[in-house]
Amino acid sequence: MKKKLYIETYGCQMNVADSEVVASILSDEYVICTDEKEADVILVNTCAIRENAEQKVLKRIQELNVLYRKKQKKVKLGLIGCMAERFSTQLLKEDKVDIIAGPDAYRSLPILLDENEKDNVNTVLSTVETYDDIIPIRYASNGVAAFVSIMRGCNNFCSYCVVPYTRGRERSRDPKTIMHDIEILIEKAYKEITFLGQNVNSYIWENDYRFHHLMEDVARLNQNLRIRFATSHPKDLSDNLLKIMAAYPNICKSIHLPAQSGSNQVLQKMNRKYTREWYLERVDAIKKYMPEATISTDLIAGFCGETEEDHQATLSLMQTVAYDYAFMFKYSERSGTFAAKQLKDDVAEEVKTRRLEEIIAVQRNSSHKSNLADIGKTFEVLIEGHSKRSADFYFARNSQNKVIVFPKTKHTIGDYVNVKVESCTAATLFGKAVEEKTI
Ligand code: SAH
Ligand code: SF4
Ligand code: F3S
Repeated sequence: MKKKLYIETYGCQMNVADSEVVASILSDEYVICTDEKEADVILVNTCAIRENAEQKVLKRIQELNVLYRKKQKKVKLGLIGCMAERFSTQLLKEDKVDIIAGPDAYRSLPILLDENEKDNVNTVLSTVETYDDIIPIRYASNGVAAFVSIMRGCNNFCSYCVVPYTRGRERSRDPKTIMHDIEILIEKAYKEITFLGQNVNSYIWENDYRFHHLMEDVARLNQNLRIRFATSHPKDLSDNLLKIMAAYPNICKSIHLPAQSGSNQVLQKMNRKYTREWYLERVDAIKKYMPEATISTDLIAGFCGETEEDHQATLSLMQTVAYDYAFMFKYSERSGTFAAKQLKDDVAEEVKTRRLEEIIAVQRNSSHKSNLADIGKTFEVLIEGHSKRSADFYFARNSQNKVIVFPKTKHTIGDYVNVKVESCTAATLFGKAVEEKTI
């Protein structure tokens, strides 16, 4: 009989996709279970992006030790993902985990978990690994939308960011294997895929097959398959991509374009390789090709040397772009990065907190305004599941990536339905199913 594996995933969508790859790599010997209490092996897939993300995981590792690992039934506990390299020595010395595997070492998991092998840690980064032949086991999926990794690693070295160190050099996945993954998803009646990479715009295969080529080839596969992607780096967002997005109705009209800051001085210190002006020009281009598109972003408050004027520049950038959605963070120094080594984390904690609150307040207003503007419009939405708040409602998304909740009709999960928006909060649209769509 196969042993039971429980995977707990933290961090970004790429980790969610990786956990499905891990489930597949271990599937000869292990079957996924959804109750941690039944597990023979627990793997925690970790994120190192900010200090509080790491603290949360370390607490959880301690808790899992007490709950399961030190009991008679000896559950094996493993830490995988972006914290692996940074914490391997400490955690093994303190006997908090049995095995450790970094993001490029998942093929060695069967050996690391094998009682008869003495190896229990592998954090070596690769320049070629893309797990391209592994068909992920979609154990956490709703059966409608799936993630498809198209590249790994990052070469950008934004000065605050740990990802180039935890995930290594950028490499793209063979398009043939991407297509194969997607064909399997279509056969299984999936309706939406999200292409994942730290910077999908720099996807490149054999010198000339770029991200917009991949998007076009996949958009042509099946009209009923929606395509999304994350994340775009502003410096690489090309007009070619925007044209392809505009040309195919099944490519979703939403772009995540992390700005990080609205101040040129800060952007330069962050090594983002674009200016506020360049960024705004890219936003104008998005609006020109796809006036109906939504734009979301990531922002960091209180980066090294950020003045009140710089902060105001971020707020004014937000006002100018009028983002539909944003992820907003306080700067958190990460050891090993350029900023940790060369710049001073000199914005006081209470100033970071206040600036973040101001950013959040502007965004709340902007998200609400964006949703209010949709009242009266009819969107084609894809039903992804039941609303958490009420079993009488469906949870769906429109092409613009907005959540729409509406009373159940004869339709089922995985159907496309036209929904007219009747009311909203800053986070959600509410409506009802109708015959005709207007957007
Ligand atoms: N590759 C993506 C982002 C990946 S990390 C991109 O470049 O856009 C997701 C977000 O976490 C980043 O966009 C940034 O806003 C935030 N982030 C990264 N490092 C951080 C740090 N040290 N402190 C605070 N936020 C950070
Ligand atoms: Fe980090 Fe910058 Fe790479 Fe994004 S592009 S993962 S922020 S280094
Ligand atoms: Fe975190 Fe690693 Fe993703 S650091 S944000 S899990 S790439």
